[in-house]
Amino acid sequence: MARPVRAFVDLVALQHNFKRVSDFAPHLKIMAVIKADGYGHGMLRVAKSLNKADAFAVASTEEALILRNAGINKPVFLLTGFHHGDELSDIQKHNLTPVIHNHEQLSILADWKKTTDADEVLNIWCKLDTGMHRVGFDPGEIAIVQKKITGVQNLNLSGIMSHLANADNVLDNKTDQQISLFKKCIKSKSLAKSLANSAGIVAWPESHFDWLRPGIMLFGSSPLLDKSAVDLDLLPVMTLESEIINIKKLSKHETIGYGGDWTCPEDMSVAVVAIGYGDGYPRSATTGTPVAINGKRSQVLGRVSMDMITVDLRGIENARIGDPVELWGQNIPIDEIATLCNTIAYELMCQVTPRVPRISR
Ligand SMILES: Cc1ncc(COP(=O)(O)O)c(C=O)c1O
Repeated sequence: MARPVRAFVDLVALQHNFKRVSDFAPHLKIMAVIKADGYGHGMLRVAKSLNKADAFAVASTEEALILRNAGINKPVFLLTGFHHGDELSDIQKHNLTPVIHNHEQLSILADWKKTTDADEVLNIWCKLDTGMHRVGFDPGEIAIVQKKITGVQNLNLSGIMSHLANADNVLDNKTDQQISLFKKCIKSKSLAKSLANSAGIVAWPESHFDWLRPGIMLFGSSPLLDKSAVDLDLLPVMTLESEIINIKKLSKHETIGYGGDWTCPEDMSVAVVAIGYGDGYPRSATTGTPVAINGKRSQVLGRVSMDMITVDLRGIENARIGDPVELWGQNIPIDEIATLCNTIAYELMCQVTPRVPRISR
């Protein structure tokens, strides 16, 4: 029998969240961002479920080929273009859309187009750096970039995107600055435009343009600092669950786990639950981090180990070995755990390890 850890993936919730994206801008196209194995949920199951998406966006040619090999033939965007020139034949063959972000990529692409026999057109997008300052052409050089692309036979610039840096904070005026710079740079009507990630979609309507690029909100976490998933009517997609594997009766003053970080203040029972940092449950979850036993809230006690945590059974009636324990999901918002662990829901979702089976429901 396998360890009882599992991550349930609620596809009805995923589709509900997709509908929430389109509620914000019903007539725009949606490029669902499903990189990093669909934010840890299983990229293929997510892609197959999001059949209303107009396109998918991933981080690498490898991820895109997984989609193509599974028969997914919607447009697939490579958000950082390609990493090596030897990816280009697959990109052309599988009709992927690289979003190129620097002159090196453009030169490799132009050289490759000149030497290859393929006379099919390759559609590309360009990334513009409007303020994130990681990747993207400088706004001032967009005309030159466009001209260079036009000079290469069978290379077609079909869209421009940029990425918002601070859109999760509705009080931060950097987003307005990025939106105005983006508008200023892109005059051409024939180019598709895209700027809005989840936070842009929810809080910055001016950032919507032609294509929305939601990621985190599809999976039911709030993209905004000042609003919860419930406020935004987003439903949790992942429920991380395990079971009680042991129950211990401890006396006042006894300590629990590595380092004996937590001392029992009274005679009490604790449950040992089969989950740990080896499953991706964060070691930074300290005493007090909520869990739900049979749907009732309790708390982690002491340190998270590789395969186990210890949970308070005070106030939990009739707990037994084999009872389900939720780490996040329906009862415990992942955003609450992320805040307590000084991280973000993106990281918690992505770091659930391969030994945890993902189960659609
Ligand atoms: C270029 C780009 N667009 C959109 C997204 C989606 O962002 P979010 O998950 O915040 O919606 C990402 C995610 O990292 C991204 O890198």
